[in-house]
Amino acid sequence: MQSAERTADGATGETARRLAELSRRRAELAAQSSSERVARQHAKGKLTARERIEALLDPGSFVELDEFARHRCHSFGMQEHRPYGDGVVTGYGTVDGRRVYLFAQDFTVLGGALGEVFGEKIMKVMDLAISTGCPIIGINDSGGARIQEGVVSLAYYAEVVKRHVAASGVIPQISLIIGPCAGGAVYAPATTDLVVMVEDISHMFVTGPEVLRSVTGVTVGQEELGGAEQHNAVSGAAHYLAQDEKDAFEYVRLVLGHLPSNNMSKAPVYPVPRGQARTETTEADRALDTLIPDQRNRPYDMAQVVHTVVDDGELVEVQPLFARNIICGFARVEGRSVGVVANQPLHMAGALDIDASEKAARFIRLCDAFDLPVLTFVDVPGFLPSQEQERLGIIRRGAKLIYAYCEATVPMVTVVTRKAYGGGYGVMGSKHLGIDVNLAWPTAEIAVMGGESAVGVIHRREIATAADPEAERVKLRTAYEDALCTPYVAAERGYVDAVIMPHETRGRVISALDALQDKRLDRLPRKHGNIPL
Ligand code: HXC
Repeated sequence: MQSAERTADGATGETARRLAELSRRRAELAAQSSSERVARQHAKGKLTARERIEALLDPGSFVELDEFARHRCHSFGMQEHRPYGDGVVTGYGTVDGRRVYLFAQDFTVLGGALGEVFGEKIMKVMDLAISTGCPIIGINDSGGARIQEGVVSLAYYAEVVKRHVAASGVIPQISLIIGPCAGGAVYAPATTDLVVMVEDISHMFVTGPEVLRSVTGVTVGQEELGGAEQHNAVSGAAHYLAQDEKDAFEYVRLVLGHLPSNNMSKAPVYPVPRGQARTETTEADRALDTLIPDQRNRPYDMAQVVHTVVDDGELVEVQPLFARNIICGFARVEGRSVGVVANQPLHMAGALDIDASEKAARFIRLCDAFDLPVLTFVDVPGFLPSQEQERLGIIRRGAKLIYAYCEATVPMVTVVTRKAYGGGYGVMGSKHLGIDVNLAWPTAEIAVMGGESAVGVIHRREIATAADPEAERVKLRTAYEDALCTPYVAAERGYVDAVIMPHETRGRVISALDALQDKRLDRLPRKHGNIPL
């Protein structure tokens, strides 16, 4: 028996020694990111992993896990350098008082590269997030698979992705890319619900510029290949372009405020904004009565409709820079979260193309997974006529949108403000897809196509043989438009439930969502559907 355990004094001495040992290890942990590495991180305009966690979570709420975990690698001189934490900070905390789990890759330690222990740490917090029904947030800033640990690193990436897929639709998953994220490592964030990138300091690519140049001879810069602007505006791999890290964290907090913690719970409900109770008609409501231009092809800003209908005019847009012909975002109606999908006539006349279809389809599925009603505003001339679009797969890829609407079981409300033509009518939240309440403004034109195109098809001969073909065309077009380009043919058949004044929209949407609150729709059992991918 050792002397430290024999006497009370001895025991105290041993206890004190052990406590001091913990303090020493903690100090070692705090000091291990050399000031030079931290300075290098700051010089790149980047915060450290712990600074990021502080900035994201409620002050003082973070609890770290596995701070003393260390790698067990003995190759390539790794045994000489076994930093605590192994290059990733993991744990839990709160955002607006609600629990979240998170991991933040620490580029100042081993380049934030993922090895066995690093992977185990991430798996542990992910498992905790899944089993406790809390969102998981991943902050990516890493050199990728830890080269010294070889295939083991690759294995752990796959383990992490497997968990993201298992958690998909169960808990919200948000990825921030705030530094490099290269190679197969990109597929972990790509499987999560939302990807946020920060201007100038975020990069994501499957093949980096160096390899690309040596393999293909093509020289391209990091920014152009996989910068934040590129992925937000062109590839669609990212959902928000933050001006800086603070902006990125603010966006994540806003999004989390609209989502439930898991698919079995409800999103938080907020107080109804003053002056926006359902019975009140505001100036903004009245302004909708004059929004639609008299000329059918003149654009207007659909965002004005959205902002008027939702609480406080607040819309948290998802992918605002990608496929700008469709607006997707989170908002609240009488304090309850909804997902908004709206054609935007200011871009490509609001026509649907591949990007718009995929953007809206994925967003609708996100809303459906987390029980947010879908509120759709329609002004769509149809699918974009284009050989390029046909070649790139508008049939297969456009089908995702109709699939997403048909598959959704949440309450759904659609408002047609102007055009709902042809395939666009069918796809954009029409009654026939399972939408619960369909409303139309008197300016709605629900028809197979617009007057100009229609007379060109059905009255071609009369126009060609008329004494004054142009006058005949105008006469026939007007007759067609008066008869068919209205909401009333659809209303007669119950394809729209009501034709409403534009200023009545907010009140009607509120009452529809209220009435649909307890909607329940059970599907036939199946393993899963086969959405066209
Ligand atoms: C081990 C790495 C590392 C890696 C960086 N480091 N990447 N260590 N494995 N993958 C180390 C560096 O050696 C360096 O250590 C420190 O991190 C900082 O890196 P620097 O190169 O000095 O930083 P910087 O100049 O900013 O360049 C960052 C970088 C570059 C662009 C990310 O490090 C780089 O190209 N790394 C390799 C990227 C890569 O190809 N990874 C594999 C991707 S494939 P010292 O001690 O010198 O400071 C992949 C597969 C996933 O991830 C598979 C999923 C199924």
